[in-house]
Order: sequence, then structure tokens, then C-alpha cells
Amino acid sequence: MVQVLRGIRRSAVRRLGHIERTRTCRRRRTRRPGGLGHSYAGRVTGLPTWRTAWQDALYGADGFFRREAPAAHFRTSVHASPLFAQALVHLAHEAGLDTVVDVGAGRGELLATVHALDPSLTLLGVEVAARPPDLPAAVGWAHHLPASLDGLVVANEWLDNVPCDVVEVDEHGSARLVHVDPPTAAESLGSPPSEPEVVDWLEKWWPLSEPGTRAEVGTSRDAAWADVLRRLGNGVAVAVDYGHTRETRPPFGSLRSYRDGVEVEVAPDGSRDVTAHVAVDSLAAAAGGRLLRQREALRQLGVRGDRPDLALARSAPASYLSALVRASEAAELTDPAGLGGFFWLITEVEPAARS
Ligand SMILES: C[S@@+](CC[C@H](N)C(=O)[O-])C[C@H]1O[C@@H](n2cnc3c(N)ncnc32)[C@H](O)[C@@H]1O
Repeated sequence: MVQVLRGIRRSAVRRLGHIERTRTCRRRRTRRPGGLGHSYAGRVTGLPTWRTAWQDALYGADGFFRREAPAAHFRTSVHASPLFAQALVHLAHEAGLDTVVDVGAGRGELLATVHALDPSLTLLGVEVAARPPDLPAAVGWAHHLPASLDGLVVANEWLDNVPCDVVEVDEHGSARLVHVDPPTAAESLGSPPSEPEVVDWLEKWWPLSEPGTRAEVGTSRDAAWADVLRRLGNGVAVAVDYGHTRETRPPFGSLRSYRDGVEVEVAPDGSRDVTAHVAVDSLAAAAGGRLLRQREALRQLGVRGDRPDLALARSAPASYLSALVRASEAAELTDPAGLGGFFWLITEVEPAARS
């Protein structure tokens, strides 16, 4: 069994022209409490909650991700190097799996590379956007997860785009749902969250007390990932994303927007990406499995950033150059301050675990 799978609690328990920035190369912005020009009037003004506005902005009839290729706006590990796909193929082989399902598949870049590396694998992209015209015919494409699936399920930078509710503590110390006007991004505070599940989640995973502090409620991400795992009969599920744990929650939340390779003002207006870091400790508690950083996961799957021996430059210059390219791509994928700091949650599901 490949090293990266060891110790897993079983469930039985942008290389694109101008895009050189990942969504973690972000300007750190700290907000002053109440600094967003909220209405504290205490009544809901008919504006949608963040979760509703975000859903509509990205996935509505003319939503951002229905029209726009993620790679045109930011760079993920998939775009950074084929070594990322190679590591996942390695994982599928080691786990004895013959199918790879990519959830939130973008324009199918990961699966196209996987197909080139091992054409014998059965591949399926699950994505709200239409099937890319240039995708190899062997790669399947669906808008929804199949009712049941076996194999390696990968979701790279999917969960951070799963919309969630946002709460903010008012001047009296009560956490209230934040509502937002999609075109202007002006916010107002509504009622305290009423769903017991949300209240419990906040208390357990992101307790707030200081006026002006905010949280993104992780229940929708936990539920989205649980839905994937529920359908998985036999296989391994890997969620890869930027995230935080209880010790490192951002006091004013992590909502961000990106467009054309740069961070822009956050707005659920359909003209830009909307994302927030994933509460990965909550996700891991709900899903089970092993939580590790991408740097560690990729190293265990054979991705190393060691520079090639200089002697090779003299004996075989072309090989030296391609080894140098691979080393620099591996260094980007494993950089602890960038993609290497992403979390991998790996959960193995076996048929016996279901009975
Ligand atoms: C940040 S992009 C990541 C794309 C790709 N995985 C990568 O690493 O480059 C997130 C993608 O997830 C897709 N997505 C979000 N929610 C989805 C859902 N419920 N079903 C299918 N695709 C979804 C979006 O349309 C978007 O293409």
C-alpha cells in the first residue's frame, strides 16, 4: 500500500499565458470590525444571504463558472504541472483502482493529463460547465455525481467554491447572518442563524464573540463532501484545498474574489470567482481519513523538487533541461508558502465498511 494511504481511518468508520497566480498568492486583508458599511438596523432588507447570492453568482443560469474557465482566472496545481496528475495516477495504481472521477473538473485539464499518462484508466469529470470540445473522447463528462461510484475521486479546489453562509458578530455580541446586495456587495446583518446544525457547527468549529468578527459556516462543505463519500462504494476520495483549522481561523473570514489572474473586490455579481478557505478540521472530522499538507502527500507519491546533477547538463543537455523543468514544477507544487501548504484529506472507503 502506498505510503500516503497508510494510517487512514477507514470510512467504517494557472499555466496559462498570463495566469501566474494561485488563489493563495493573496494580499492579506484585515477588516476593521464593522468596517464594511453594514446596516445594523437588525432587520433583513430582502437581500439574499451570502450563501444564496454566491450560489447564484457562480452557478446560476449565467453563473461565472458556467461561462468562465477557472484557468483563465487563477492557477491551480492542475495547471502548475503534470506532476500533480502523475501523483494521482500513482495513487490510483497503488490503491488498485481503475477509475478516476474529478469533481469540479474545470475544463478537464487534470483528466486529459491523466488520460495521456494512463489511457487504460476510466475517467469521469463532474462539472457544472459544459463538456470542453477538445477533451479526449475517452474522458466521460457529467453535470452531477453518479448515484454510485468506485475508484479514485479527486476534488482539487472544489470545496472552497461551495457556497456557505457568513455570520458576523453584532455590537451586542450576537452572531447574525450576513446578507449581501449582489451588484454592490453592500452587506447588512440579518437574524441569528436558526438551523441547529449551523448553531452547533459554529459553537464547535468557529466560536465567535468579538463584535465585527466573522465566520464562514462549513456545514455546506462538510455536506458536499459527505455526499461524495456516500456514493463511493469502493475507493479513495481526495479533497485538496486551502484551508484552516481552529487554531488558525481568520478573525474576519476569508471571502475572496479573483478575476483575470488578480484578486479583486469581493462581490457575488457573477463577474468574478468567489471563494473562501475550507475548515479542513471539521471536514476531516465529518469524513474520516487522513489530513496532511500537499507537500507531504506529493513527496510520499514520489514528487520531489531536487535539482538534477550538473554533470547531466554536459552529457545530456536536453535531459538536463527537462529534469530542471520538472524540478522547478515540483518545487512550486510543494512550496509550503504556496500550493505545498494546501491540505489533502484522503479517505479510503471499502465495501465491507458499508455493511
Ligand atoms: C476552482 S475550480 C477548480 C477546477 C479544477 N479542479 C482545477 O483544479 O483546476 C472549481 C470548479 O468546480 C466546479 N463546481 C463547483 N460546484 C460544482 C458542483 N456542485 N458540481 C460540479 N462542478 C462544480 C466549478 O464550476 C469550477 O469549474
